[in-house]
Amino acid sequence: MTTASKSAPLSVWRPIATDTFLVGSPHYPEHVDESYWQRDADRMAAAGFNTVRLAEFAWHIIEPHEGTFDFDLFDRAIDVLGKAGIKTIMCTPTATPPRWLTARYPEVLRVDANGRAMSHGSRQHANLASAVFRKHSKRITKAMAEHYRGNSHIIGWQTDNEFNTSGSLSYGPVTLAEFQAFLEDKYKTIAALNDAWGGHFWATAYDDFDQVVLPLDYAPAPVGPTHVVDYHRFLAFVTARFQHDQVLILRATNPDWFVFHNLGRIDDIDFRGEFSTDLDFLGFDIYPHLYDEMQRVGGVGEVQALHLDICRGFTGNFIVPEQQSGFGAQPNISTLTPEPGEMRRMAYTSVARGADGVMFFRWRPAHFGAEIYWMGIIDHDDIPRRRYDEAKQFAGEVTALKDKILGTHVRMDLGIAGSDFDNQEMHRSYPVGMPSPQDDATLLHRYCYRHNIACGFIHPEDDLSKLKALYVPHWLKWTDAWTARIEAFAKAGGTVILGGRTGSRDVNNHVIRDTSPGKTLSALAGITVEEFGLLTPIGGDGLFEHGGRFGANTVRKKLPASSASRQYELKIGNAQVTAAHLYELLNVAPGTEVIGNWASRFAEGQAAMTSRKVGKGNVIYLGTYLSDALVEVLADQVLAPAGIVPLIADIPAGVEATIRESKDRRLLFILNTLGEPASIGNVPAGKDLLGDGKIRGGKLSLPAYGCSIIELDQVILRSQKAVLS
Ligand code: GAL
Repeated sequence: MTTASKSAPLSVWRPIATDTFLVGSPHYPEHVDESYWQRDADRMAAAGFNTVRLAEFAWHIIEPHEGTFDFDLFDRAIDVLGKAGIKTIMCTPTATPPRWLTARYPEVLRVDANGRAMSHGSRQHANLASAVFRKHSKRITKAMAEHYRGNSHIIGWQTDNEFNTSGSLSYGPVTLAEFQAFLEDKYKTIAALNDAWGGHFWATAYDDFDQVVLPLDYAPAPVGPTHVVDYHRFLAFVTARFQHDQVLILRATNPDWFVFHNLGRIDDIDFRGEFSTDLDFLGFDIYPHLYDEMQRVGGVGEVQALHLDICRGFTGNFIVPEQQSGFGAQPNISTLTPEPGEMRRMAYTSVARGADGVMFFRWRPAHFGAEIYWMGIIDHDDIPRRRYDEAKQFAGEVTALKDKILGTHVRMDLGIAGSDFDNQEMHRSYPVGMPSPQDDATLLHRYCYRHNIACGFIHPEDDLSKLKALYVPHWLKWTDAWTARIEAFAKAGGTVILGGRTGSRDVNNHVIRDTSPGKTLSALAGITVEEFGLLTPIGGDGLFEHGGRFGANTVRKKLPASSASRQYELKIGNAQVTAAHLYELLNVAPGTEVIGNWASRFAEGQAAMTSRKVGKGNVIYLGTYLSDALVEVLADQVLAPAGIVPLIADIPAGVEATIRESKDRRLLFILNTLGEPASIGNVPAGKDLLGDGKIRGGKLSLPAYGCSIIELDQVILRSQKAVLS
């Protein structure tokens, strides 16, 4: 496998520079008797697997006593697998420090807000900020890297395992000292910190850095929002620094290895910073049937699409180091069971959304420990059944198609501004009852998913030229450099939609002193915000509290029925919708067209939505938040005229269409997420890659969970002047 992604800038359009489609499983040879090993390797080879991932929780085996290393088990396991043609991804095992370490150095444990140290017995109990833990992390990484330096079966490394998934917060003295040092490095003088944090508010000013406290540390009322944002910036810094220690060692030991990290429930990682630039690519562990995810977002297909699209927005194509295969459980959670065919469909959804490698979690379930019911490819009784057959089918197919798939990016007609750490954290630090940018964006993403519109997440610093439209979901923080980029995009013909409150805070999380949305955005959009205020959410059913993965986890509180009167109507063209969460009254500059007006109470007749022609495109300002109804109106009145239409018009609900493309080829993925057959009309002509390879088009029938990949015929497309061309 060759990777050179590191040299390419972070971009949603970046494929992984590889000629191997990784397919295989995370594997735990340490969980079974050695008599299983050869049989496991033979079965993996027969299934067409090329890779396993090993050792992410095995520090105690590799270093049973401080300074004593024992690689015997993994050496032999890697050898058996390697001889069967299965390569190994090794992991730094730092998510589970051995007991000797936490017993001898208890200062490495994370500490909760009440001062209690995390206990041993699960995972991620160590504090990434701890200098002592970092020292041990470097020691184990160096020992493993040097031991495996010349082992040709090892192709790459995963750092740790799902950083921060089980929590990232820590409040003990170790964290406090590191936080103070981080702030001193950032602000240099205490006066600069006091300015940034607003020390004259509630006498929160400090005389020196060693007086600074951790936020939420026994504070009777809320602490300042900049203090909170800086704490999360610190946690992200600490996470990236911890990984950086390991990456430096791995790269110095063998520059041919690729290095990645597998993301889980993401908190306190800044994906546009060193965390990502250190890596060749990202990995994303996807478990679409997790109940809490489904309840929050929608059906199983929608959950998977949303999470993978968000991940792609961070750095481009990725691998899936853990793809749900069977049902899963921990003592406190459990998931639904993928039906026959569904595991293969989920794997193709990952590919369709940008995966350049898929590994099924896991080869076999454990017989002991906290995940005895997290099913694998092989069952507890060592019998390969339908999941093995599906993995084998997928591995054979995807390997045969790898040269078509690798090197392509996922098409996006509509981009949603995403992957901005400060915007996520500034919202969380002071949400005023509003949805997070991700919650708001999710409504638009859901519409696109359900209508098979090519949509995804992209940072304004990325290449916008392949998009037709860009939606900015209420990014409180904005920088002038981004205005220049979206202006250039609009001038070239793009449509920009700016959500209310965009640009209303500065880099220090202060409310700006200019009129919103700030000088450059006001000039570009041709408006200023005269007044803003809160509206009740649709249905009068609650204020949002942030939390969870991507901030999409919301708790709603019931509001009294009388609050329904604080829902204002919004008229856009001949449509009328009830507005949610926010109203803004807009002052409109000459030359800017009002395309939406308030239609209720004192706001009646005032401008709520505007459009300004900029070059060949336009900039739309929307002085409220999205609702499902408003998204429909936008789709009709703004997106469709901008050329944003379904990839396939005649397609039933539950069937996904996406495109992966490069300069010379275009692959249309049509995937049936339903447990019943589906019929799709008007499929453009092309070669049926998962079928018999013949050219066909028109009507397509898919069985339950059926998958089709069609290599579109460019000549036919051009002659038809199809939407897809
Ligand atoms: C992932 C984790 C795995 C396993 C899996 C199923 O988050 O990386 O180690 O725990 O979930 O719970």
